[in-house]
Amino acid sequence: QKLEMQLEAIEKGGYEHFMLKEIHEQPRSIQDCFRGRLNLDEGWVGLGGIKDYEKQLTKAKRIIMVACGTSWHAALVGEYLFEDLTRIPVEVEYASEFRYRNPIINEDDIVIAISQSGETADTLAALDLAKSKGATILGICNVVGSSISRVTDAGSYTHAGPEIGVASTKAFTAQVTVLTLMALTIARKKGTIIESEFRKIITELDLIPNKVAKILEKADQLEEIAAAYKDASNALYLGRGNSFPVALEGALKLKEISYIHAEGYPAAEMKHGPIALIDEEMPVFVIATQGPSYEKVVSNIQEVKARKGKIIAVITEGDEQVKEMADHCIEIPDTDENLTPLLTTIPLQLISYYVAVMRGANVDQPRNLAKSVTVE
Ligand code: AGP
Repeated sequence: QKLEMQLEAIEKGGYEHFMLKEIHEQPRSIQDCFRGRLNLDEGWVGLGGIKDYEKQLTKAKRIIMVACGTSWHAALVGEYLFEDLTRIPVEVEYASEFRYRNPIINEDDIVIAISQSGETADTLAALDLAKSKGATILGICNVVGSSISRVTDAGSYTHAGPEIGVASTKAFTAQVTVLTLMALTIARKKGTIIESEFRKIITELDLIPNKVAKILEKADQLEEIAAAYKDASNALYLGRGNSFPVALEGALKLKEISYIHAEGYPAAEMKHGPIALIDEEMPVFVIATQGPSYEKVVSNIQEVKARKGKIIAVITEGDEQVKEMADHCIEIPDTDENLTPLLTTIPLQLISYYVAVMRGANVDQPRNLAKSVTVE
């Protein structure tokens, strides 16, 4: 028993929980994910695993992404990336819904399954259905040799390394990294991105690991914020554009490891109902980084403040305006608009982790949850 505990301590690399270790591994896991797939000097990106399908992807009239949970949130980020960069229509589907609703699947559709474990029953079943209708099926998995990686025509591994914590963290950022590389590869082939824009994004992508490391250095501040809200009974997460999937992911993290009810919402949707929930007890996490929807998010923050809600804002470093309004601000480095999900998700992962620890929850194995849902 003692040996087992010693072994586990070594596996945790000195961290108290696997989840904390995996959160801190992200500078390296993102680097590992784009190793050999991003070359700044020669100016290219490429995913060997889907090389044979690049043409088909370039000509695709529609891409359907199927996934569950956190992987579904990564797929939603993928929708913003693909539609913005490649102009190919993307539909993101919960695998469990897709498989039972007799969906329209055409032979020239491309279905991409996203799954850390590569064993999620609903995602596998959705792929089987797509295959039976003649669609091309690709996979983005973390576990090499997993069922999904074997059943798909081709795919790319995320190379995040084993993710032990039930709550997915480094797998999410690795999935988003692969989706970014895939979208950039197709956009360049299609000519839907101009060369200067392409080079700007890949230069920024190369800097992401260092920027993630910089955010991780704010762990103490994030722990303080967690302490302020660890007894909340509800929380709201708001984001616009590609920060909306990050808001959903932030809410899922808090829910699944601290058992506090949390909801992610498109920031503008607040006025259509959820604003009725806001009172001085309600922490509202808002992703308010610089970008096209910044001013609108700022007005959403004002609406929350007018109802005495508590604002915890993720902002671009140097933003004085939101700092004046929010109860807490987490400053993160600036990056290309398409890459912000890789950074804005980090503080939300750590806040959820610290809240769960302070509440004495079993962080690595939350109650009722399994690492891979291999049953329907
Ligand atoms: C995420 O933190 C959860 N552990 C869960 O939602 C997970 O993302 C979902 O079950 C999908 O798993 P997969 O990526 O292995 O398919």
